[in-house]
Amino acid sequence: MGLMPPASPGPPLWLLAELTYRCPLHCVFCFNPIDFARQEEELQTEDWFRVLQQGRELGAVQLGLSGGEPLVRDDLEEIVAEAHRLGYYTNLLTSGVGLTAERAVRLKAAGLDHVQLSFQDSTKEMNDFLSHTKTFDLKSRVAKIIKDQGWPMVLNVVIHRMNIDHIDRIIGMAADLGAEYLELANTQYYSWAFLNRDQLLPTHAQLKQAERTTDVWRARMGERMRIFFVAPDYHEGRAKKCVNGWGNMFLTVAPDGTALPCHTAKMLPGLSFPNVRAHDLRHIWVESEGFNRYRGTGWMKEPCSSCEFKEVDLGGCRCQAYLLANDPDVADPACFKSPHHQLVEEAVARAGRLSPAQAVEHPLVFREPANSRRLG
Ligand code: FES
Repeated sequence: MGLMPPASPGPPLWLLAELTYRCPLHCVFCFNPIDFARQEEELQTEDWFRVLQQGRELGAVQLGLSGGEPLVRDDLEEIVAEAHRLGYYTNLLTSGVGLTAERAVRLKAAGLDHVQLSFQDSTKEMNDFLSHTKTFDLKSRVAKIIKDQGWPMVLNVVIHRMNIDHIDRIIGMAADLGAEYLELANTQYYSWAFLNRDQLLPTHAQLKQAERTTDVWRARMGERMRIFFVAPDYHEGRAKKCVNGWGNMFLTVAPDGTALPCHTAKMLPGLSFPNVRAHDLRHIWVESEGFNRYRGTGWMKEPCSSCEFKEVDLGGCRCQAYLLANDPDVADPACFKSPHHQLVEEAVARAGRLSPAQAVEHPLVFREPANSRRLG
């Protein structure tokens, strides 16, 4: 490309270890790659120890342990213990499946700092439908296990058309379960959620109502429960500063050891990303072509390059530019200044017109190995 990367990037403060793509759930909005079932290889425990060590040497301080479902790895306690020894603040991102009281005691002893538990909805019916598993009751039990260990608990609920009208009950459920933080994360349309976008995109009216309801609860709960409502960029007309800027503070390592600047960058054409088995993290973070390609603002074209917001959103999301406009070098179509912005507006309008009969004709695609092999 010939683009000069910005002089020495800051540290990757937030390291995300995607320990596995194995997961007992089948969520329709999962951000794991469509072809996850073809990627069965996983790093060994010692590989992760090396990555953690190199991450700390680079200045990483927060470690997310995710997947798939990280609890399916039976070396999770060892990895947590090593991360704790190295001085990371450790956060487990889990569906709750596999978090028994005994395992929670072991993870606490290993030094785990924080647990983020996902729910799909406040009702058993919708929770179990969206994840294609009977997990609602189990999650409620796990929430109690988390509280019993004294961990601060983040409840994460991905929001979309099928549960957004339940937001009052979702927040009430989080309050009843004693969550310190509630993240109401509007669906981001990548991977499985992109496949299911027509059925998942809420309408503007639903969104505004959900925001009003959230504000009422914020006033009621005050500091007892902090509520984050992560706004959806499809409805905002503004691009988000995706992953806080490409190669800026976020580094994720996929189960097979591929190092990525975001969850889904591997699909971008014309880019290669190094594997932690072959390269150390310093080389990957500072020197690799993949991490430098969209770092800073030097890669931008118009309208981004002369935009007054270019330092604010850094051109938005590269993966979304590729998914929607078929070109990762252009402005994120979520931005109203993008020449492709009508693609986003059309998607919102089309989803709003989807009748129940059409929704039946185009059933949701669940994140299942068979679907992954068929579509990936
Ligand atoms: Fe890849 Fe936004 S998800 S840059």
